[in-house]
Order: sequence, then structure tokens, then C-alpha cells
Amino acid sequence: MTLLRSSLLLLGVSSAFASPARVIRQETVTVTATPSAAAPTATAWDAGAVTSWTIHSSCNRTERAQLERAFGETITLVNHARDHILRWGNASELYQKYFGDASTGEPVGWFGKIANGDKAGVIFRCDNPDGNCAQEGWAGHWRGENATSETVICPLSYETRKPLEAMCGHGYTVANSNTNFYFASDLLHRLLHIPQVGEGIVEHYAEDYPEVLELAENTPSEAVKNSDTLQYFALEAYAYDIALPGEGCPGKYTATSEAPVASATETPTATTNKRKAKAIRNATPTPTVSCTAPEHAVMSETNS
Ligand SMILES: *[C@@H]1O[C@H](CO)[C@@H](O)[C@H](O)[C@H]1NC(C)=O
Ligand SMILES: *[C@@H]1O[C@H](CO)[C@@H](O)[C@H](O)[C@H]1NC(C)=O
Ligand SMILES: *[C@@H]1O[C@H](CO)[C@@H](O)[C@H](O)[C@H]1NC(C)=O
Repeated sequence: MTLLRSSLLLLGVSSAFASPARVIRQETVTVTATPSAAAPTATAWDAGAVTSWTIHSSCNRTERAQLERAFGETITLVNHARDHILRWGNASELYQKYFGDASTGEPVGWFGKIANGDKAGVIFRCDNPDGNCAQEGWAGHWRGENATSETVICPLSYETRKPLEAMCGHGYTVANSNTNFYFASDLLHRLLHIPQVGEGIVEHYAEDYPEVLELAENTPSEAVKNSDTLQYFALEAYAYDIALPGEGCPGKYTATSEAPVASATETPTATTNKRKAKAIRNATPTPTVSCTAPEHAVMSETNS
């Protein structure tokens, strides 16, 4: 008993001194007392993730092969668009041309969603469930209220849409060719109509080239969620950075006889653009419905 008490007393005295020896002893005790923690294990947080869009059984071998290739090209196209913005931000002339002074997060997000977002339930089919493919010039359509996550790609698409390596070929220019000239940019547009992709936010605020440029200048907040703007930007970035580096094929816009007369003569203003966007919105309570109309579904001018 006496021995134990004097030992405790001794310990108390030594701690009062707070000598270096005491500090070392403390550290040793702490390490020994800590139970070795188990290494954290990965949770199955992404269980069930779907990493590619679904090709419906109605597509034959040829169609499936072409769609698979076009899916890959779509990812390539949007990944580059995103990477261009991530590298240069709003210092990029190309960025300013299409998105004005809008902040970069939104377009980066839309491109990123297409590339990396979950693809569950997004279906491309090759039959003709709504009977639209029989109509002259219809190359495909979003199924709208009949099946919001489904897109029909009609036979005309497989004959007319160009592969991405043909960028700047076949007389293509950004300013004067349709945004659906390439299968990749056509699918980009179609994907943006799917609610889980475009969230009903990406819309048609402006459509042809001059209108898209006006939108960037006058209403950049709409440019960053404008379907055609996202396509034009992705196409021009790919053409200039990748296909023909430092040159691209921007073209110089000339209104053609094929273009609506209004586009040839009208000098768009902020007011007319807003009016148009409003008209589109009013006419189509569900944003994407407008794209089931012939003028959107038809890609007939595309060298068919
Ligand atoms: C670019 O972004 C910075 C930071 O948000 C901002 O201060 C600047 O005004 C923007 N420049 C242009 C041309 O939009
Ligand atoms: C939805 O189905 C109906 C009935 O078959 C059809 O008339 C309509 O055009 C379809 N909608 C679309 C967007 O194809
Ligand atoms: C698949 O369908 C397309 C029409 O989209 C047709 O041209 C092609 O010949 C078909 N392929 C086969 C292997 O039947």
C-alpha cells in the first residue's frame, strides 16, 4: 500500500514538471491506446449506373452499328466542347461568340451531363411507332408525350448524317450548314430534348445562325440553355481545335434561297428574339414538342 501511494505521488510530481521525458511518454501511450482503424471500404453508391444509351431491338445490325458509332462521336464532340471551356473559360473568343458574357458553369454542365450523366431509360429506336418516318424528309423525332425518353431515328438519318471525321468536309461550314449535318450534333440536339438530360430547361430560344449570335449578345442567360447554341459552339470548337487546327471552317453567313425569307432580310434585335422565344414557349407548353414538328425533325437539306 505504502509503496503504491508513493509511486502515484511520484507520477503526480513528474507531471507537474512537464519535462520533455513526460511528453515523450504521453505520445507513446497515445499510439499504443489507439485501436487500428479499419480502412474505409467503398460504398456501392453508383450501383446500377447506366453508362450508355439504349439501342432498341427494332434496330437492325447496320443501324445499331451506325448508332453506336454516332454515340461515341457525340461523346467526343461534347467532351471537347466542355474541355475548351474548362481550359479557356470566357477568355475564349469562341465562348464569347456563342455565350456572350454568361458564366461558364451552365454550358460546362450541359456538355458534362451528356457525356457523363446516367443514361438509364434513354432509348433510341428504329421502328416507326408514331408513323412519322413515312413523311417526306423526316429523319427522326423525339416521341414527345408518347414516350418522353424515346427518340426515333428514321432510315433517312443513316443515309445522310455525316461522321465526325468528315468535319469541314463535304462543303460544310458552321455558319451556312445545318447543325444536324453530323450525326453527332444531330444526336446532341435530340438528347437535349430528353427530360432527364435537358431537364426541360434547354430549349429553343433562337435557332438559325444569325439568331444564335444575336442571342449571345443580347440574352446570354438564354444562350447558355439554347439547344442550337450548344450545337453551334460544339461544332465550331471541334472544327477549329481538332479537325483543322487554327483554321476550322466557320464560314461567312449568307442567307440562301432555302432559308426562310425572314432570315435573309430581318436584322434580329433583342426584342424580336425575345418575342420569338416567347412565341415558341407559348406555342409549346412542353418545350420539346416543337422538335416533333417537321421543321425540326426534317433534316432534308442535309445532302440527301
Ligand atoms: C469573364 O469572367 C470574369 C469572372 O467572372 C468576369 O469578371 C469578366 O467580366 C468576364 N468577361 C467576359 C468577357 O465575359
Ligand atoms: C403520338 O402518338 C399519336 C398516336 O399514334 C400520334 O398521332 C402523334 O403524332 C404521336 N406524337 C409524336 C410526337 O410523334
Ligand atoms: C437496316 O435498315 C436500314 C434502314 O434503316 C436498311 O437500309 C438496311 O439495309 C438494313 N440492314 C440490314 C442488314 O437489313
